[in-house]
Amino acid sequence: MQANHEELMELVDLWNYSPEATAKIRDILQSESPPPPHLFRYYGKEEGKVQQAERLFAETMGAKHALAVNSGTSALMAALAACGIGPGDEVLVPGYTFFASASVVVASKAIPVICEVNDSLNIDPEDMERKITPQTKAVIAVHMRGLCADMDEIMAVARKHDLRVIEDVAQACGGSYKGQMLGTFGDCGCFSFDFFKIAMSGEGGFVITNDEFLDTRAQSWHDTAACWRPDRYAKERMPGELFCGENYRMSELQGAVALAQIRKLENHLDGMRAAKKAVRDRIDLPEDFAMRRQPDPEGDTGIALILFAPSPEKAKALIGALKERGVSAGGRFDATVRDWHVYSNWEHILEQKTLTSEGCPFTCPFYKGTLPDYRPDMCPKTLDFLSRSVHIGISARDDDKCAETAAAINEAAAAVA
Ligand SMILES: Cc1ncc(COP(=O)(O)O)c(C=O)c1O
Repeated sequence: MQANHEELMELVDLWNYSPEATAKIRDILQSESPPPPHLFRYYGKEEGKVQQAERLFAETMGAKHALAVNSGTSALMAALAACGIGPGDEVLVPGYTFFASASVVVASKAIPVICEVNDSLNIDPEDMERKITPQTKAVIAVHMRGLCADMDEIMAVARKHDLRVIEDVAQACGGSYKGQMLGTFGDCGCFSFDFFKIAMSGEGGFVITNDEFLDTRAQSWHDTAACWRPDRYAKERMPGELFCGENYRMSELQGAVALAQIRKLENHLDGMRAAKKAVRDRIDLPEDFAMRRQPDPEGDTGIALILFAPSPEKAKALIGALKERGVSAGGRFDATVRDWHVYSNWEHILEQKTLTSEGCPFTCPFYKGTLPDYRPDMCPKTLDFLSRSVHIGISARDDDKCAETAAAINEAAAAVA
């Protein structure tokens, strides 16, 4: 069945135009009957929205290839598949990230090894190296809350131990490290375009890479069985191209939204960065309080301002004092509150809950290592940093408002010190 006016009318309804404006748009749309669009990315005669979004995203990120997929989780799955990660392999993941970065490892039938984060709230390269075993094949380096991980150190450890590096850039789209875009350091960079992200298409994601082989394999995996290669039924163009995959294709509807969002990305980031800088530059914290360490302040996306109190109690008091002063603030770890971003809540992994009863990957005969000692307190440093962290939302954009926010932060911190 074709997508005609009726579908477009439903889309118009998504924007809350006034009834008068909606009626006018409907009149205009009804007066013409253009040929219906192909909402499937691989049909249509010209370059479709998904393909345009891929081209623009690759260009924006400075990567050779970008593959659009239907979520950030799909992007991670496709990257792991492209890198050949599976039964018998261990993958290092940080203890602070959205659960998806770890669950994809189990879904790929590999073993997640949970690592500490450091004062950047991203994976700690030293703990990463400590946890490497002969089974370790990859690390998922996540750039949390808009800010890069310690990429020089992570890449040095990865090169030394011949590990694949998959960057999870879901929360830091457009961020950089020493002038290079996040997502281009490792083998693959994975992005989420879900509703809550810096750039979004409702649901969606991208995998970027400079490696043609990895791009081909990610394409195959995301497209059931590499159905939609340039020549659909050709024999494999290179060994490793053909295997049974899943379907993570992005539709033209998501592609259209993603394309517009990518075009707006730089401008959007400029606004957030300027506001954060205007607040941050005015912050003067009492002794024992500290700002989250920025491995590269220039590359920050500016989406979050995070500081550390000297104790969880002082962090709670500071959150209260900030709220009293009209500043939106929240903590990141409280043992009584469930939060999928903290590993101690990942009971699926800690208790080795699996899809099928044989217990794979935790019982996999291909796995020759010793399972990590999964416990809620296995990464004490991570819990310490998170329980003392205070996340401050910056909604103000003009300089006077930013100055007010900074003054409120200074006052609140002084009151609880
Ligand atoms: C760090 C991180 N990785 C992966 C994902 C998964 O992205 P999606 O919701 O698009 O599957 C998210 C989403 O919140 C995320 O924050």
